[in-house]
Amino acid sequence: MTDPARAQWNPDQYARFEAERDRAALDLMLRLPDDLDPREIWDLGCGPGHHAALLRRRHRGAVVHGLDSSAAMLERARALDAAVDWVQGDISAWTPDRPADLIFANASLHWLPDHETLFPRLVQALTPGGVLAVQMPLGHATRHHALLRETAGQGPWAPVLSDVERTPPLLDPARYYDLAAEGCETVDVWSTAYLHALTGEDAVLEWMRGTALRPYLTALADDPALSAAFEDALGDALTRAFPMRPDGVTLLPFPRLFLVARRR
Ligand SMILES: C[S@@+](CC[C@H](N)C(=O)[O-])C[C@H]1O[C@@H](n2cnc3c(N)ncnc32)[C@H](O)[C@@H]1O
Repeated sequence: MTDPARAQWNPDQYARFEAERDRAALDLMLRLPDDLDPREIWDLGCGPGHHAALLRRRHRGAVVHGLDSSAAMLERARALDAAVDWVQGDISAWTPDRPADLIFANASLHWLPDHETLFPRLVQALTPGGVLAVQMPLGHATRHHALLRETAGQGPWAPVLSDVERTPPLLDPARYYDLAAEGCETVDVWSTAYLHALTGEDAVLEWMRGTALRPYLTALADDPALSAAFEDALGDALTRAFPMRPDGVTLLPFPRLFLVARRR
């Protein structure tokens, strides 16, 4: 079975829509408490490392660690900022040597199962007064993810793709509130729906190639013709649902869930 988080990440493809992907991380950073003066910061699922590097510049007195399971992503991160402690590892198995003052996780935790145990465990890894800051895409609620699931289930590729492990839908927002509130004095949960203005041909397909499509393409890697046929079918469905406007822009609505919680 293809594990969705482990399917190969391609930093170049991921970076194609860097401004749009960064937007939510920056919105999350803006909600960190002003009086937070962290000594130990962890960016979990740090990817190409921009946010860990930004956090290091913002909190000069802190030791900043970036954890990711992808060697390709970490190679990119290391080239960006040598002063961050880049660590290859799995968030599921992660426990810090010292409690963290800030755990930042942008667009990574939705790849992990069992949030009922994950979120309390992350809160437990914080110092008193420490902050957990999370952003997760609400992909399951989107039209482009529905088209991906539909297309994957119809056609000659369907038997191969039936084995691809889907990322589970997120819990109800109120459940994240409850899970964090157990150990936190303040919990702020909100969602924002972005309307990403993408440019270029097959923009939504290209967007998905950087993230949600990866486990599917990994599963089809041994059959390039079948993989190409699947991508063509998905590309057609996406173009019908998200036509390019006369100005060359393709609008992609994308809701995301945020949580900022402070340990008591
Ligand atoms: C969509 S990228 C987000 C990267 C970065 N946080 C950002 O906002 O640009 C998701 C990242 O999470 C990492 N990831 C997914 N599951 C993981 C796990 N279980 N342990 C560690 N990293 C994981 C992937 O390797 C990938 O780099």
